[in-house]
Amino acid sequence: MNIEDAKRLDAADPLRSLRDLFTLPEGITYLDGNSLGALPRATPERIQRAVEQEWGQGLIKSWNTAGWIDLPRRLGDRLAPWLGARPGEVLVADSTSVNLYKVLHAALQLQQGKRKIVVSERSNFPTDNYIAQSVVRAHGGELILTESPEDIPPLLDERCAVLMLTHVNYRSGRMHDMALLTRWAHQAGALAVWDLAHSAGIVPIDLLGSAADFAVGCGYKYLNGGPGAPAFVWMHPRHEGQVWQPLTGWLGHANPFDFDSEYQPAPGIQQYQCGTPAVLAMTGLDTALDVYDAAQKLGGMKALRNKSLALTEAFIGGVEARVPGAVIATPRDSALRGSQVSFSLPKDGDDSIDGYAVMQALIHHGVIGDFRAGDPELLRFGFAPLYNGFADVSRAVSVLGEILDSRSWDAPQFTSRSKVT
Ligand SMILES: Cc1ncc(COP(=O)(O)O)c(C=O)c1O
Repeated sequence: MNIEDAKRLDAADPLRSLRDLFTLPEGITYLDGNSLGALPRATPERIQRAVEQEWGQGLIKSWNTAGWIDLPRRLGDRLAPWLGARPGEVLVADSTSVNLYKVLHAALQLQQGKRKIVVSERSNFPTDNYIAQSVVRAHGGELILTESPEDIPPLLDERCAVLMLTHVNYRSGRMHDMALLTRWAHQAGALAVWDLAHSAGIVPIDLLGSAADFAVGCGYKYLNGGPGAPAFVWMHPRHEGQVWQPLTGWLGHANPFDFDSEYQPAPGIQQYQCGTPAVLAMTGLDTALDVYDAAQKLGGMKALRNKSLALTEAFIGGVEARVPGAVIATPRDSALRGSQVSFSLPKDGDDSIDGYAVMQALIHHGVIGDFRAGDPELLRFGFAPLYNGFADVSRAVSVLGEILDSRSWDAPQFTSRSKVT
């Protein structure tokens, strides 16, 4: 896609006004919103107000007067419609890893020790599988990891307690059919736990319609809550009141300000709160959700999804045309694609290309994606329809092409690795 075509598409984009709700550095093509979303323009002032007014002036009164104590539920209610859940069912708290620990324990308890196997994918994000390893250890169970999605159905048998999947794979960007896999899990007597880290706010999600059991996800990726923003957790209402989640902190108590010596779980999703909410981080996420309110008025998830698919399709086409050796890891079938595109570059012989160095060279030239080690090594580009446009696609492809043609990536400043890739 040439830049003139890209500009025409951007001019006709019904969501184009949303980009002005973000602060993005001049000259940067930011394609890493699947890792860390961009900064909403309103966030600095809002956090400053929370610090100076609510904390500085309001002091401890602000737990009530500024509604701090209600943030985990209020933010959960704001997120619920984007997850296919109802208000009152979602809680914003802790990290995705911690929330996964809570729900996996709960799911295994619901199986009452009769089934102890958790099935997931080897290509799942490591934290999911690491947490699952700890939880199955505690329950005397086993984690079975599949090599490909096609291997999942035969493992859904009478021993399977939980099918734990990330809806959109962090490496390939492949999206699972949540309703179908949940149904298969249920037919086998297993429960379905979904990680929505790469789905929330970017692909249509229907937790209730899929009859999923539990879900968790990140606030700092497509939701733009800021680095380390709190995560969310959802439980299907049919599981209410049956088991305790394992991190039985005081704010998950039915009456925390009674200061009872005995734990008594709060009803519903409130039990999944453990301790004191990170108010400033929650404030960042709260402000970021205002952008979603604006997106709702411009066509909501349907418009976001249409644009996301158009962007990723244009980028796949551009890479295929400009980088002949690239192997696209992301499904071309839009029903199977999240909102990122990943590809590998040739690794053998004289044509070998160091993908890490290519990404560093891209970043040096103002095109920011990221690199994921593994087999194959992948260059990842996330497309956020709230602030990315077709000009970003066009620029990323042309800069990539120039870097590869000139082999300018092959320089010590790009080949030496930093801690965060
Ligand atoms: C699928 C998935 N789950 C979880 C996480 C991160 O979890 P946490 O926020 O607890 O670090 C990531 C991070 O990229 C992820 O891709």
